[in-house]
Amino acid sequence: MEKSTNIWSASSWRARKAHQSPTWPDLDHLARVEGELAKKPPLVFAGEARRLLEHLELVAHGKAFLLQAGDCAESFDEGSADSIRDKLKVILQMAVALTYASGVPVIKVGRIAGQFAKPRSDEFEERHGVSLPAFRGHIVNGEEFDATSRRPDPERLLAAYHQSVATLNLLRAFTTGGFAALSRVHAWNQEFVANSLEGKRYEVVADEIERALQFMKACGIDLHDDGALQGVDFYTSHEALILPYEQALTRQDSLTGDWYDCSAHLLWIGDRTRQLDGAHVEFLRGVSNPIGLKVGPSLGADELLRLVDVLNPENRAGRLTLISRMGDQLVSDRLPPLVDALRDEGRDVVWACDPMHGNTFVAAGGQKTRRFDDVLSETSKFFDVHQQLGTWPGGLHIELTGDNVTECLGGGSRLNEGDLDLNYTSICDPRLNATQSLDMAFHVAEFLQRYSAGNGARSL
Ligand code: PEP
Ligand code: CO
Repeated sequence: MEKSTNIWSASSWRARKAHQSPTWPDLDHLARVEGELAKKPPLVFAGEARRLLEHLELVAHGKAFLLQAGDCAESFDEGSADSIRDKLKVILQMAVALTYASGVPVIKVGRIAGQFAKPRSDEFEERHGVSLPAFRGHIVNGEEFDATSRRPDPERLLAAYHQSVATLNLLRAFTTGGFAALSRVHAWNQEFVANSLEGKRYEVVADEIERALQFMKACGIDLHDDGALQGVDFYTSHEALILPYEQALTRQDSLTGDWYDCSAHLLWIGDRTRQLDGAHVEFLRGVSNPIGLKVGPSLGADELLRLVDVLNPENRAGRLTLISRMGDQLVSDRLPPLVDALRDEGRDVVWACDPMHGNTFVAAGGQKTRRFDDVLSETSKFFDVHQQLGTWPGGLHIELTGDNVTECLGGGSRLNEGDLDLNYTSICDPRLNATQSLDMAFHVAEFLQRYSAGNGARSL
């Protein structure tokens, strides 16, 4: 088993190459901001990250399902209470649909309160003969195509921190303050979703849940006493791309002496920054949060095994979530050797499916988009692979919003290419809207049922 021999510290990544890093024009300015951030309170606590790790251990052992969802890139212009609430509503609705059909607990993790940085295929973008630094997410620069907006600005690290604080504050209030109580299951169905086929299907499930709650109440069970019915555990996550920001929010836990990246509960390494000798792998191997690793079609079994050993040398279940993002065309071919190799070597990981990032294309009108059918098809094949290998298809990782956007084609809202411009607001990748997300959840609930039926005799 491969282990890293060098000593880890919160800054040991600095000796490695950090791929996908912006070229900061003023490094002194960056250093000043890092110093300021290092004095700020943590966004999340080590104990919360440990609790998520325990939940993910259940997922690794086939006893729970992970739902990780949110924006491709959060925007500084879109942190309103309504948009956060609506995103949460959709995730809660999806979790209800999944849990109700499958009987499996759903661990809810948002791509939220810190998902501001984007890797890009090209360092520069050219328009009409003018070349400017690529847009890398609001934590780095602005998307407008002019030299001032595109200049990486360290002050944005502070702005990202403050928006994350505000977002997380609201999420904590929503998830513990009554809004997420199961008795409000009907209230999460937004008006524009309620009239769709998926919305109506959801209402049926919500009715059943309400009846079950009434039954329990009639039996004398005090529902207000039960924390699990009154609120939900909701965790945050983002891609740990901008390492100066992540390092500044990394703290030593006074209870255990372990180091935690307190910018989110779960951090992941992107498909473009997973080099074994790179800075991102070096940084995340040393923090004790649960972590994710995107697994794209160019990653072979040997390299994956080495990455797994560096990132999870103790082979602790729940520590590492592998997020497969192969694309509908490649998943059946590329995923099985990886799952097989890890299973044969006894590596205890969570396997999740990101059916978004391998299925993006540019529509005739120039908009980046995805077909709902491709997204669904990749997910279905992901489930098939695990069914065949007897491993647990542990989770779903998707890009969504609670708004009625027109960014992905087909699905519940039956959008076609001509509709894309109606309400396309993503600053990066196309997201499923609320109706499409719910549609997805009902399909995945069926996949989970199908999986359980096919694996009745198999123990995980
Ligand atoms: C993402 O999740 O937004 C992303 C950029 O994914 P990937 O690293 O898989 O391309
Ligand atoms: Co994306």
